[in-house]
Amino acid sequence: MITRDQVMERLATVMDPEIHKPITELGMVASVDVEGAKVRCTIKLTVAGCPLSTRIEDDVRRAVGAIPGVQDVAVLLDVMTPQEREDLANRLRPRHVSTITRKDSTVRVLICGSGKGGVGKSTVTVNVAAALQRMGRAVGVLDADVYGFSVSRMLAARQQPVVLGDGVIVPIDVHDVRVISMGMLVDENTPVMWRGPMLHKLVDQFLNEVAWGELDYLVIDAPPGTGDVAISLSQELPRARVLLVTTPQEAAARVAGRVAQMAGKVGQEVIGIVENMAYFRCPNCGEAHDIFGRGGAQRLARDLHVPLLGHVPIDPALPTGGDMGEPIVWSDPESETAQVFVEVAKAVDKATW
Ligand SMILES: Nc1ncnc2c1ncn2[C@@H]1O[C@H](COP(=O)(O)OP(=O)(O)OP(=O)(O)O)[C@@H](O)[C@H]1O
Ligand SMILES: [Mg+2]
Repeated sequence: MITRDQVMERLATVMDPEIHKPITELGMVASVDVEGAKVRCTIKLTVAGCPLSTRIEDDVRRAVGAIPGVQDVAVLLDVMTPQEREDLANRLRPRHVSTITRKDSTVRVLICGSGKGGVGKSTVTVNVAAALQRMGRAVGVLDADVYGFSVSRMLAARQQPVVLGDGVIVPIDVHDVRVISMGMLVDENTPVMWRGPMLHKLVDQFLNEVAWGELDYLVIDAPPGTGDVAISLSQELPRARVLLVTTPQEAAARVAGRVAQMAGKVGQEVIGIVENMAYFRCPNCGEAHDIFGRGGAQRLARDLHVPLLGHVPIDPALPTGGDMGEPIVWSDPESETAQVFVEVAKAVDKATW
């Protein structure tokens, strides 16, 4: 005899893929009917046309189907009413909405910063995040490069996030990495023309009104330099660590040094340096060529007394994969390039915070 309780017990193992909580806790199980060996469940989605509905449906079918004696599982999908969404938002707010900016937060915040634009910050952000995810960590990625957002494209996360009620934004889930970016809120071709206070408000919202859930890491793609957003980040996140990205040129390294200075002023520690576009390995002879010179990153590391955590080669697979929304750490984890990001992630994970 199959009981309703047995079914509920199994349903409690099904997680909402966006909110990362059991569907039973989120009020998504509308009804359960058992008739002999047949079980019928009605699941309420947070929004109509939820892109992850098939996943929820499959997970429910699998979980309930695993109960001994069950022969048939029917899953009906329904949608929450506005009131139910509001109730859910209220339930999520106190426990799940970010505590990242609180002093006692245990989330490790890693800000990828650089002096100059175009040195590979976003590439490092998504790949280090992907590597931490592969290590089993719960990871969020916040694209704080409001004008030059690109994380949404690099992770193929361009759909609009669900807003569950006043002030609870559900991040987009990509391979279990929770992502939020300006690129989800505006058209990719629309220039963002905001002044300082609005930028500050957006960063504040991304930090405090996104239902990040329980995170081990929040990796932030910061805009280059020491502008408004960088200042907001440093004020809101004094406990964050900065991962400096630079290219081998002396000039790039010098400007990166200024970002380190700003971080230092608010007490943020530089965890290390990643030298991007460090060399090119000839596919024919296997020799490494220093296209952009060498030494800048090394000198910066010495000046700042921080470790140089990795040398990322110039790799044509990076822009190609980046455009397809697949960081190389996921698409080709054994490659020389991916392994550098994995080593950087390991060093980050080993550091004390
Ligand atoms: N090691 C590399 N080898 C080849 N291409 C790379 C490498 N690193 C980055 N790129 C490419 O260079 C371009 C700039 O990289 P990315 O967007 O990561 O830099 P960024 O510092 O975030 O730039 P921005 O300041 O514009 O935000 C991208 O097209 C990226 O795919
Ligand atoms: Mg970028």
